[in-house]
Amino acid sequence: MTQAASEESKNELGAAPKLPEHGALMLRLLPFAFAFAACAPHLTDAERQLQLDRSIHAIDPNAEPAAPRDAPADGRLEFNTEYWLGTEKDEAALIASFGQQIQALQREAKDKHQAATVLRGFHAKSHGCVLGELKLDASRPERTRFGVFAQTFTSWPVIVRYSNGVGWAQADDELDARGMAVKLLGVPGTKYLTDETATQDFLMTNSPTPVGKDAVEFMEFARANANGRAAGIGFLLGHLRSGNALLRTGTIASTVNETYWTGGPLHLGAHQAVKISATPCAGQKKREPSKEGPDYLAADLTNAAKEGFCFTLRAQFQKDPIEMPIENSSIIWDETESVPVALGNLVVPAQALMDKAQCDALVFHPWHSIAAHKPMGNHNRARLVVYSASQSIRPHGKEPVAP
Ligand code: HEM
Repeated sequence: MTQAASEESKNELGAAPKLPEHGALMLRLLPFAFAFAACAPHLTDAERQLQLDRSIHAIDPNAEPAAPRDAPADGRLEFNTEYWLGTEKDEAALIASFGQQIQALQREAKDKHQAATVLRGFHAKSHGCVLGELKLDASRPERTRFGVFAQTFTSWPVIVRYSNGVGWAQADDELDARGMAVKLLGVPGTKYLTDETATQDFLMTNSPTPVGKDAVEFMEFARANANGRAAGIGFLLGHLRSGNALLRTGTIASTVNETYWTGGPLHLGAHQAVKISATPCAGQKKREPSKEGPDYLAADLTNAAKEGFCFTLRAQFQKDPIEMPIENSSIIWDETESVPVALGNLVVPAQALMDKAQCDALVFHPWHSIAAHKPMGNHNRARLVVYSASQSIRPHGKEPVAP
């Protein structure tokens, strides 16, 4: 999507369009969901190789990635390809309504949890932000050398924000996803959004998949979860397969011990779909802090930052368009089938955490991105509108600059 298109999405929000008829829309989306869930024919090895070659050799890696297409009637998905959720028009109507829904949930959460201001629609509570450096691995494979990982680059200054998943402040021992949002600073190139001109963000949680097989289910969960834990568990029971990210939301000892994934895919060059992950660097000692108090994860992050820590960033390539789909994010891309390859280490030197107000005022957005890392899939297309909607009604600061 171009900058102009993204401005258009914002304008649609401002104009408060009429909510679509969800029941009717869902009926129209059903055949599509069925085609993806049940009928997608598995490819033979030869077919898969042919498609892969076509994707890698026929698409200029430095081009703007292709726009999504209508889902194939025969269910034969292609590598590195996005498909609309229903028709393009259906999807646009749904996504516009999600922007309004998140703002309603944010306002409700402010009142219900007596927050001083409207907070992020998700990941409202930060544990802290740190500064660091992404040092690219000199021996990273040729296939990874696109965008911010291209041959010419060796390192990037970064800011990282760690958070709990829900859109209000709750004690750290409650079940929840945990976030690690990484912002690379001083990145040249045209971005999809206009609020930041020199940043590339990678947003990750400590689950390999987000909640829901698509953005529709994600927003169903968002609404259920806002009604309390019982409703959140009710959602899980009703969506045992696609809600399974919720099974990985147990308490954690330390944000620095966790592995984080982008959940949704993105480009690595216009010709390859990948997922990015961040794992504690090899040999880094596991932290075993006390879990006392509602904010023990911030206390632990403060101590971890005093010593410094490190994460290895990896890219996992799509190896099969059916086993590793773009549009159904609830299917884990098997890491034994396509082993993630190291891109570099994100090194956080010894430091004090960033001032909390400054940390919370930061704006992380999956679409703070250059074309080489364009986010893919309907979860990500929904995020283009939903994050901007959330950010527009909460206090936030200006684009940060490299220290
Ligand atoms: C696909 C996997 C996803 C991952 C890995 C992810 C991760 C994250 C992270 C780490 C943050 C916190 C950013 C920060 O520290 O400021 C965040 C915020 C947020 N997420 Fe997601 N998320 C995902 C999917 C979604 C989806 C599908 C939606 C809704 C359609 C959504 C809605 C939000 C919202 C509204 C915020 C707050 C935005 C703001 O005001 O700054 N997320 N997400």
